[in-house]
Amino acid sequence: MVSYKELGLVNTREIFKKAYDGGYAIPAFNFNNMEQMQAIIQACVEKSSPVILQVSSGARKYANQTLLRYMAQGAVEYAKELGKNIPIVLHLDHGDTFELCKSCIDMGFSSVMIDGSSHPYEENIELTRKVVEYAHQHDVTVEGELGVLAGVEDDVVAEQSHYTDPAEVEDFVKRTGVDSLAISIGTSHGANKFKPEQCTRNEEGILVPPELRFDILAECEKRIPGFPIVLHGSSSVPQEYVKVINTHGGALKDAVGIPEEQLRRAAKSAVCKINIDSDGRLAMTAAVRTVFTDKPAEFDPRKYLGPARDELKKLYMHKVENVLGSANQA
Ligand code: G3H
Ligand code: 13P
Ligand code: ZN
Repeated sequence: MVSYKELGLVNTREIFKKAYDGGYAIPAFNFNNMEQMQAIIQACVEKSSPVILQVSSGARKYANQTLLRYMAQGAVEYAKELGKNIPIVLHLDHGDTFELCKSCIDMGFSSVMIDGSSHPYEENIELTRKVVEYAHQHDVTVEGELGVLAGVEDDVVAEQSHYTDPAEVEDFVKRTGVDSLAISIGTSHGANKFKPEQCTRNEEGILVPPELRFDILAECEKRIPGFPIVLHGSSSVPQEYVKVINTHGGALKDAVGIPEEQLRRAAKSAVCKINIDSDGRLAMTAAVRTVFTDKPAEFDPRKYLGPARDELKKLYMHKVENVLGSANQA
C-alpha cells in the first residue's frame, strides 16, 4: 500500500474548490507514455496550472500500471526541477469495477473515477458508494457519472447519448458521497463526436455541431450548488490538425469536436474538470506524419516523437490559457 501523499500528489478536493470559486476548470489530460507526460508537465509548469494526469484502463494495459505510477511520481519531481511545484493529481479514468479502483488507490492514485453509468441507476449508486467508502478511508477523491456519452469509452461503445437527468443528481450525490460528478450534455468521446447529419456546414464547408445542452448543465448546477461537475469527451478536434493528417497520408473522415468557446463557457460555471485526450492524439499524429513525409529517411524515434511532444505542449498551453482558464492558478 502506497499513499499518494508520499509521492507528492494531491487529491482533487482543494483544487476543485478553487476552480469552482474562480470560474475555471482543471485540465485532465490522458497519458500513456513519457512524451505525453513530459508535454503535460512542461505546459502546465510554464502556464502555472494545476493538472490531472489521467490513466485509462487502456493506458494501464498498454504501459503497465506500475510504470505509470512511477511516471506520475517522476512528474512531481520533474515539475519541481522545471521550477514550479504545481498541484498534480493522478487519476483513474473510467474505472469500471470496485477492484480496479481499489488497486489504483492502493498503489498511489490520488483520485479515481468509478463509471457506473452503463448500469441501472440503483446499481450505479451501489457500486459508486462502495468505491467512495474505500477511497475516503485513504483520502482519495472519487468522480461518479450519471448519463451516458455517445462514442467509445474504453471497450464500451455507446451508440447514443442519454443526457443526464437533473432530477437524479441531488439524490445520486447525496447517496454515494462522490466528490465530483461527470454529466452528459452533448459531448462524446473520440474525434467523430457528431454525425455529419447532426451538423450544419459553414461557408468553408466545415461541419458545425449542435450546441451543448447548457440548460441541463444549469439545471444540474441549481440542484447541487457548489458541487464540482466534470465534462468528458471535450476535445475540439482542431481542423488544422485534421488537415495536416489528411494531407500527409491520413484518412480522418468527418472529424468534428466541441467548439472551444463552448468549453470556455462551461469552465466558467460549475464545471471544474475538463477531459481532453483526442486533441492530443491528433496533435502528435499530425507532427509525426509531417516528419515522415518531409524526412522519409529519418528513423530515430526521437526525431519524430520530439516534434510530437513539442506540438502537444503547444496545444496544452493553449488549452490551459484560452479554454480552461487555469493558467496562473497553481
Ligand atoms: O475516455 C477515453 C479516453 O480517451 C481514454 O482512451 O481508453 O483509448 O485510453 P483509451
Ligand atoms: P476526448 O475523446 O474528447 O478527448 O475525451 C477524453 C475523455 O473524456 C477521457 O475520459
Ligand atoms: Zn471520458
